[in-house]
Amino acid sequence: MDKAKYGPWALIIGGSEGIGSAFARKLAADGFNIAVVARKPGPLEALAEELRGMGVEARSLSVDLSDTSAIDQVRTITDDIEVGLLIYNAGANNIRGNFVELDPKVYRDVINITVVGQAEFAHHFGALMRERGRGGIILAGSSSNFCGAPTLATYTAAKSFSRILTESLWLECEPMGIDVLHISINYTDTPAMQRLGYDTSSAQSPEEVAQEALDNIANGPLLILGGQRALDTAIARSQLENRGEMIRALATPRRENIPQKA
Ligand SMILES: NC(=O)c1ccc[n+]([C@@H]2O[C@H](COP(=O)([O-])OP(=O)(O)OC[C@H]3O[C@@H](n4cnc5c(N)ncnc54)[C@H](OP(=O)(O)O)[C@@H]3O)[C@@H](O)[C@H]2O)c1
Repeated sequence: MDKAKYGPWALIIGGSEGIGSAFARKLAADGFNIAVVARKPGPLEALAEELRGMGVEARSLSVDLSDTSAIDQVRTITDDIEVGLLIYNAGANNIRGNFVELDPKVYRDVINITVVGQAEFAHHFGALMRERGRGGIILAGSSSNFCGAPTLATYTAAKSFSRILTESLWLECEPMGIDVLHISINYTDTPAMQRLGYDTSSAQSPEEVAQEALDNIANGPLLILGGQRALDTAIARSQLENRGEMIRALATPRRENIPQKA
């Protein structure tokens, strides 16, 4: 990864485990200083210590991204450094349910983390990159974003927002020297998925996802992870005719229909 273009600091939002920590380790190995943000302080501090052991500087901050002041909190550790690469990884969906039956906090959190959060962070750090004439932004999405799905209304909609936001930023930011990439993440063996009890034996590894994303940062606006099958599904979910029938057949399955660990 080119530190002169995307360094010297990478900021990883949702960086303490899984895909986020895989990004952190790969970038530290290339000499990037790393700032990581997540909620649980223990894994954050352990990762920052590990990264320092690799010979780079590391900062960490415990922030809940569902709080709309998250950007101001994160600025307390970034205002005095040059963030050349922003990776906004956090945003998996833990609580599923019919939209009208959900506690409003559930959908507000999803919207704050993915819609408000990605917009705020891309706006703040993108403006600073524009002044320097260089940088990179990676926003994490999901293969669920190409159509709605029962019990995932705000998640699928928020990830769709993320993809469309990225597509616009990609073209706007091109003449500013900033590469912008949306990663449509498929089934990946992260601690969050393991905690939900899913059988992740066929899932991609977080390391594969992070490497493919870094390798393709200049090939935006959209990277579909998960190979040909994921690409075929994305194409099928994007069809405009008979959309209702397509959603019935191809939307992300309800949780009870996803294979669990034996
Ligand atoms: N894993 C998959 O199969 C899959 C599939 C499709 C898309 N994705 C996407 O891939 C990305 C990563 O997913 P993941 O499975 O690793 O789970 P995740 O729950 O998004 O966790 C990733 C990181 O974000 C942090 N995080 C989560 N919620 C946060 C919050 N409210 N405030 C601050 N930090 C928060 C976590 O640490 P803390 O818990 O300590 O905060 C962790 O470091 C997400 O955007 C997700 O939508 C994943």
